[in-house]
Amino acid sequence: MAIPNLRDKWVVVTGAASGIGYETALAFARRGANIYATDLNQAGLDDLSKALIGLGVRHHLAIVDVANEAAMRALAQEVQDKVGAPHVLVNNAGTGYMGPFLHTPMQAWRHLLDVNLMGVVHGCYYFLPAMKKAGGARHVVNVASAAGITPSPNLSAYSATKHAVMGLNDTLSIELDGTGIGVTAVCPGVINTPIIRNRKAVSPVIPSEQLDKLEGYYRSEGAHPAIVGTRIVQAVQRGEDIVLVGPTARPMFHIKRLSRRLMRLLTIEGCKRNGFIWPYTLPERTVVDTDQRAA
Ligand SMILES: NC(=O)c1ccc[n+]([C@@H]2O[C@H](COP(=O)([O-])OP(=O)(O)OC[C@H]3O[C@@H](n4cnc5c(N)ncnc54)[C@H](O)[C@@H]3O)[C@@H](O)[C@H]2O)c1
Repeated sequence: MAIPNLRDKWVVVTGAASGIGYETALAFARRGANIYATDLNQAGLDDLSKALIGLGVRHHLAIVDVANEAAMRALAQEVQDKVGAPHVLVNNAGTGYMGPFLHTPMQAWRHLLDVNLMGVVHGCYYFLPAMKKAGGARHVVNVASAAGITPSPNLSAYSATKHAVMGLNDTLSIELDGTGIGVTAVCPGVINTPIIRNRKAVSPVIPSEQLDKLEGYYRSEGAHPAIVGTRIVQAVQRGEDIVLVGPTARPMFHIKRLSRRLMRLLTIEGCKRNGFIWPYTLPERTVVDTDQRAA
């Protein structure tokens, strides 16, 4: 449900130490909201804390792994004890893995499912009961991706987790109809944040020249994460159910609605034109290879 006035409302943001989460916390704080910021990265949270003090809002910080069910359950209880049920929950924490499907280790699949999907599930599952009980207008924001709408070659695990978040969102928005709790799916496309610079989350078959090129593309074409933060706040104030933000998200959303075939062709052509590695050019791999790489 729309929450036009955010002053003195409590907003929980996961993954708030960097990128989109950091900017989203600041965007809410600029409208007078108080922030409960969580992440794994203490240094990033400390930076955010200084900025929030400058904006004169109340805030709490917590180191919490969204993949850890017990830790998320404890976080929901801690928030309830300290500030009551939040008015807004932003499940933003996420991570990536780049590599063709046959070169994406099972360990990477499990990690992405745990963080990108179960992190969102934990947030919704443990915060929603108190939000429902408290009543009034409340809102859940789940950060998916443009990769949750259209297929993304070399991002099979990431794309699958983000499609799953979209499915969860659609279901939740129906189940929560009439409760006063609104649900927004956020689909950013190409946002210039550190997520693209984590070279540990890349299959060894992706050449470093391709990563350099991709990082350059994100730097020159990527939107600033503050744009996503601003759109998330607007969506909560207006009660919007989807946010398409960044250079690729809106066109791809509409192309897919028009024709799945066209979307597929454009995706393949775009990857080839940009010289991104294509799975059929890769050497064979055996199951043993992948398991060793994952160890
Ligand atoms: N940057 C993009 O182009 C883009 C596009 C679409 C969607 N997204 C999504 O936006 C969200 C934020 O990404 P970003 O681009 O700001 O990246 P980022 O790397 O700048 O920020 C992600 C934050 O999440 C935290 N995090 C990671 N795993 C965590 C865990 N298990 N528990 C708690 N915190 C954890 C990190 O420490 C980091 O502070 C992610 O869900 C991402 O998938 C990003």
